[in-house]
Amino acid sequence: MKILVTGGAGFIGSHVVDAYIAAGHEVAVLDNLSTGREENLSAEAQVHRVDVRDKDKVQGAIASFKPEVVNHHAAQSEVPRSVADPGYDAQVNLVGGLNVLKAAADNSVRKVIFSSTGGALYGEPDIVPAGEDHPIRPLSPYGTSKFAFEQYLAMFQRTFGLAFTTLRYANIYGARQDFASEEGRVVAAFASRMIEDKPVTIDGDGNQSRDLLHVGDVATANIAALERGDGGTYHISTGVPVTVNDLFRKLALLTEYKLEPRFGPPRKGDVYRIALDNARAAEQLGWRPQIQLEEGLRLTVDYFREQIARLHA
Ligand SMILES: NC(=O)c1ccc[n+]([C@@H]2O[C@H](COP(=O)([O-])OP(=O)(O)OC[C@H]3O[C@@H](n4cnc5c(N)ncnc54)[C@H](O)[C@@H]3O)[C@@H](O)[C@H]2O)c1
Repeated sequence: MKILVTGGAGFIGSHVVDAYIAAGHEVAVLDNLSTGREENLSAEAQVHRVDVRDKDKVQGAIASFKPEVVNHHAAQSEVPRSVADPGYDAQVNLVGGLNVLKAAADNSVRKVIFSSTGGALYGEPDIVPAGEDHPIRPLSPYGTSKFAFEQYLAMFQRTFGLAFTTLRYANIYGARQDFASEEGRVVAAFASRMIEDKPVTIDGDGNQSRDLLHVGDVATANIAALERGDGGTYHISTGVPVTVNDLFRKLALLTEYKLEPRFGPPRKGDVYRIALDNARAAEQLGWRPQIQLEEGLRLTVDYFREQIARLHA
């Protein structure tokens, strides 16, 4: 199958590209490399260096490659940046996303798979793990633009017959995640600092919890969504809340880190306790996470060790 992956040079998108190629699909990447990296690009994928805000170039790329499926991962994906500049967030996530959708509808694309968020949609959830039908009450422009785009997808299906599947991700971690990034990349930030014996600061008391899913499991969910889940919205998650203190201890063991954590002020607007129920994805996509937290953390620490050794070489 021909698949165009927007954001395919980024952390998650590049793993999705690799999984599609390994499964025998023909893949093109559309990315402006703003946060994505050249070295993440698969040698076997056709690359379109295009900004999703450039309507004509998006049309051109989709018209020339003629994909059957468009997998949309390109985004402004930082919550703090969306708070600082909601207009930029909307330009990329809404206007840019709509350029992709319109080009898909104009060029007989069968289906769009969209990477939404579970972590930034529900505010402080009423129930843990929260289901997909939990009330929507985002605390950031990022959560709001992601949800608005979900509504556009449903409209494009009703009006233009363009199928979609929305995957609402938990907190994703793994190789290629940007450890210098400020937002929520708690595994990458802790692991990289611990490997170098640098002090680690936990925001708040560390009893806040997250639903941590390895990026390898996200790739398999994107494979499942090629053939299943039309018109559906799914949590791609573990369903299990892990506290930041627990994560600290697990990573400290793996990296032989001996320092105690520092505790800073809690981050404003952060959700305290969240996990996302994945029963619907299991039932309808036939997808379940396969990579246990300890195994995923070990793989991630190995990756950052290599990266850091390379930086110092
Ligand atoms: N990382 C997570 O835990 C997480 C959780 C929920 C949802 N998501 C979503 O998954 C997707 C991928 O996130 P990620 O963590 O891999 O982030 P990332 O920043 O590594 O990937 C985003 C990619 O989009 C590209 N991009 C950004 N703006 C663009 C533009 N204007 N035109 C073309 N390309 C552009 C970037 O260069 C990058 O390659 C995003 O849609 C994000 O919102 C991520």
